[in-house]
Amino acid sequence: MERAARRAGSRLRRDFGEVEHLQVSRKGPADFVSKADRAAERSLYDDLKQARPDWGFLLEESGEVEGDPGKPRWIIDPLDGTSNFLHGIPHFAISIAVQEPKLDGSGWGEVTAGLVYQPITDESFWAEKSRGAWLQDARLRVSGRRHLDEALIATGIPFAGAGDVGEWSRIYQAIGPRVAGIRRFGSAALDLAWVAAGRYEAFWESNLQPWDTAAGCLLVREAGGFVTDWRGRSQAICDSQVLAGNDPLHSRLHKLLVEALKD
Ligand code: IPD
Ligand code: CA
Ligand code: CA
Repeated sequence: MERAARRAGSRLRRDFGEVEHLQVSRKGPADFVSKADRAAERSLYDDLKQARPDWGFLLEESGEVEGDPGKPRWIIDPLDGTSNFLHGIPHFAISIAVQEPKLDGSGWGEVTAGLVYQPITDESFWAEKSRGAWLQDARLRVSGRRHLDEALIATGIPFAGAGDVGEWSRIYQAIGPRVAGIRRFGSAALDLAWVAAGRYEAFWESNLQPWDTAAGCLLVREAGGFVTDWRGRSQAICDSQVLAGNDPLHSRLHKLLVEALKD
């Protein structure tokens, strides 16, 4: 996973360098970025297919590619933080996860490995089920801060037709004034990786997709944190409602969120 991400990442880094020159033309950068996105996906697909020829894929740009029955699949977002990339903001990542089929053949089960790679900082956040979460070769732990007033919280704000603004605002009103700060950096995969790394105490967002969260959720859990939906349920792919954080802050924020969304 790491080799594949680094190869696709160096391509993205090169293309990111070009984006700035294209900012003057209105259509230019968007076309260029979607090409860069697809080229990164192709590079990841080729490398991972070569490494595990019988595994399947769930790719953001190309959809599902079936593997052999009973084999795992890769879940891939080749460029998470597209708007940042398009605007020349150096905050974006590649996200890759491995999901196992359920033993009874009834669909997809646990996520057992995940990697979030940030090409600009060359940081590789990775986790393996029951083996911990790591940044390069340093073990990751979620933050030890316990109090709301010292907590830095990341979120994703609904935009252009995606998400429920009313719901987000209610949650924000309950949480925002009580914490040290709220950040909207624009890459859900990195938001989760940064919770795992203890940079943020917590993160919430809804309406995400499996490729945004599959690797990040495993990272948070393997770093000793919690990820649930609004009802407190823990799912392997935590995409539709994500509340992630260290133990004390996850539980405090969960109470505030439930209260805020009551009736
Ligand atoms: C987006 C980012 C963003 C989140 C959006 C996602 P993309 O992914 O993760 O932070 O708020 O919901 O779609 O489009 O940049 O791959
Ligand atoms: Ca994404
Ligand atoms: Ca993407």
